[in-house]
Amino acid sequence: MHGLLAAVITAAIFGATGAGCVAVPSTNCYVFDNTSHIYDFSSLVGQLFEYDDEKDPDLVVRFCKDIETRAQTGYVDYGRYNSLNYFIASAGTGNFLQEYFNGDIRNCETTYDKLGRTAQVNIICGSCPNGQCVGGLGCICSVTYESTCRVLIDLALPCVKPGLRVFEGFTVGFHPRSWEVVYNGMTQVGYEKSYDEFSFSTEQRDVTLYLTAVASLSSLVQKPTIKVSPKEGLAVKLSGSGANGSPPTTLSPTMIAVDWRCEKARDKPYEVNITIPVLNYAPVQFTFAKLCEHSQDERGESLRGWGIFGIISCILIVGLTLSCVGGFIYKMRVQNLRGLDAVPGMAILSACLETASGGSGGPRYTRPNEANDHFVNQATWEEQTASTRRTTATSEKTYGSI
Ligand SMILES: *[C@@H]1O[C@H](CO)[C@@H](O)[C@H](O)[C@H]1NC(C)=O
Ligand SMILES: *[C@@H]1O[C@H](CO)[C@@H](O)[C@H](O)[C@H]1NC(C)=O
Repeated sequence: MHGLLAAVITAAIFGATGAGCVAVPSTNCYVFDNTSHIYDFSSLVGQLFEYDDEKDPDLVVRFCKDIETRAQTGYVDYGRYNSLNYFIASAGTGNFLQEYFNGDIRNCETTYDKLGRTAQVNIICGSCPNGQCVGGLGCICSVTYESTCRVLIDLALPCVKPGLRVFEGFTVGFHPRSWEVVYNGMTQVGYEKSYDEFSFSTEQRDVTLYLTAVASLSSLVQKPTIKVSPKEGLAVKLSGSGANGSPPTTLSPTMIAVDWRCEKARDKPYEVNITIPVLNYAPVQFTFAKLCEHSQDERGESLRGWGIFGIISCILIVGLTLSCVGGFIYKMRVQNLRGLDAVPGMAILSACLETASGGSGGPRYTRPNEANDHFVNQATWEEQTASTRRTTATSEKTYGSI
């Protein structure tokens, strides 16, 4: 009975949130447990957890940001790690494990694989092993200095509720080796919902998506589905290997070709939701905005037009070639040319050369710096003027004869 009720509630929630996809959290303060459920700690980023120490300086954890030690006056002795480097499910103490590298203390540069000062935080969901920290925001259970360069901290806090089960390793991108749309199973910012200001233009008739998944889990990927809002006015078709639900791997991505055609113009973009179901995991869903400033023909029609144009062009080219060859053979036979002129193409070539050089006895090309003598220069100029006239005459004749 309880199971049934849970199922009904789950269905209701999923129905309300629309398939329930996993958008990437707003900060890097999130973690997956050993069953790939996501825990988003973004609301706790920067939260202070202080630990008063009798013999050592006080220690402060700024959650997901830094580990600091402070002198009694509150002065920060050291801290300032690069950032949070690791946040993973724990195999040992606690539920999760955080690692901070490259702290700013000196003389630790060569320790621990040259990572400088390091800190490890074991996060325990609930209370400390000794029963401390029941309720409230949580607290530090213990601080252990492994060396002057490494500190271990046990931190208990009421963990956030687990999120959906993320299909880790799955990517969707616009190129075979990119993941702008979905990375590590999470829909990236910009594609988790429709943004009016970022949309595909009217002219863009298609977009190709490339899917990759961890090879051992790739068979869980199912056939994608689409939902367009509003329902009428934009025709969307999916094709390609990914559209049939073929298993993608990292080495051989599958492809989804999204083909869209505006049937009705609209001042706001259409919203296109593409959902890729994954067995036993939350589905992967992303949203595109598609602008339709005017309606468009089916692509087949315009292709047919081009096809007819192509056939006509082809007939024209073949006809022209045939008549040219015919004319040439006729000329060769009738005029019965001998010697070099009888070589096919020679007559045309010589005619071309004649036209280009402006007839026989044309001027020699003279570079200005070559002609030092003024009179030679002038002679060349006069000759050129004369030849220009001649060339014009020749061209006129040529145009007339065609
Ligand atoms: C996952 O971790 C929990 C403790 O955090 C443990 O009880 C459980 O057995 C683990 N499951 C697997 C499949 O490793
Ligand atoms: C598309 O997805 C968004 C975000 O998940 C959701 O708000 C919207 O209702 C969905 N639209 C349709 C038509 O399913």
